[in-house]
Amino acid sequence: MELLKVEHLCKTYGQGENQVKALDDVSFSVDKGEFVAIIGPSGSGKSTLLHILGGVDRPTGGKVYMDGCDVYAQNEEQLAIFRRRQVGLIYQFYNLIPVLNVVENITLPVLMDKQEVNEERLNELLDILQLKNRGEHLPQQLSGGQQQRVSIGRDLMNAPAVVLADEPTGNLDSRNSQEIVELLKFSNRKYHQTLIVITHDENIALQANRILAIEDGKIVRDEVIRKMSARHGEERHESGSVQKDGDVCGDEVTRR
Ligand SMILES: Nc1ncnc2c1ncn2[C@@H]1O[C@H](COP(=O)(O)OP(=O)(O)OP(=O)(O)O)[C@@H](O)[C@H]1O
Ligand SMILES: [Mg+2]
Repeated sequence: MELLKVEHLCKTYGQGENQVKALDDVSFSVDKGEFVAIIGPSGSGKSTLLHILGGVDRPTGGKVYMDGCDVYAQNEEQLAIFRRRQVGLIYQFYNLIPVLNVVENITLPVLMDKQEVNEERLNELLDILQLKNRGEHLPQQLSGGQQQRVSIGRDLMNAPAVVLADEPTGNLDSRNSQEIVELLKFSNRKYHQTLIVITHDENIALQANRILAIEDGKIVRDEVIRKMSARHGEERHESGSVQKDGDVCGDEVTRR
């Protein structure tokens, strides 16, 4: 089942002589439950693409559809709800709030969305993330790998339909990197989430179902390297928080 589709996506930064074409007529679609690795040289447009998919950067041309809904046709408020509920964005630097402990960091987006924290899901996540006895710790009291696990927990708390990760292991050694990748793969399988990961690490790219290579803002290769398991994408998706508002792109995905 197709979850995400982009059509003729273009993104131009700046004007006149300083103009940079970061994305140049990019079209592709991603099925529910797919794990896609995006590779390409520095400056090729990978982060720009991820931000546009995540609803944080408006394209200058083209469309993004999430579950058939035109993401950028929504108003700002709907777009904000879309970002909070449907998308988990993970970065190389974990962007944790230093004065909040592990549990507070993980549950912050749910509380900011005025939703109730699903305690069962929180405990399950703390367990999966191996942070059970770290709930009260502040980010500075954790290792880099643990901090990245907290940021992943924060993104998974809302049970997003799509997890977008921009070099999530760029800051970690190889053992911690593989642990993070295992975690993302686990969540991709268990919660049937679509996973799109930008990486410079070939070992990580080769664990995906599919590799998209970008150069100069264009897709130069789109290769399925491993079929998804038959169960993938067909099971129901449980929401991690109580949903109140409707009419938001992709809301159906988590409600079903
Ligand atoms: N806010 C911006 N203003 C102007 N130009 C930008 C902006 N953001 C990105 N660019 C330019 O767009 C192009 C694509 O940038 P992008 O960050 O998407 O590359 P990338 O593939 O993620 O690179 P890296 O691997 O180094 O992270 C680059 O030439 C970059 O300089
Ligand atoms: Mg980048």
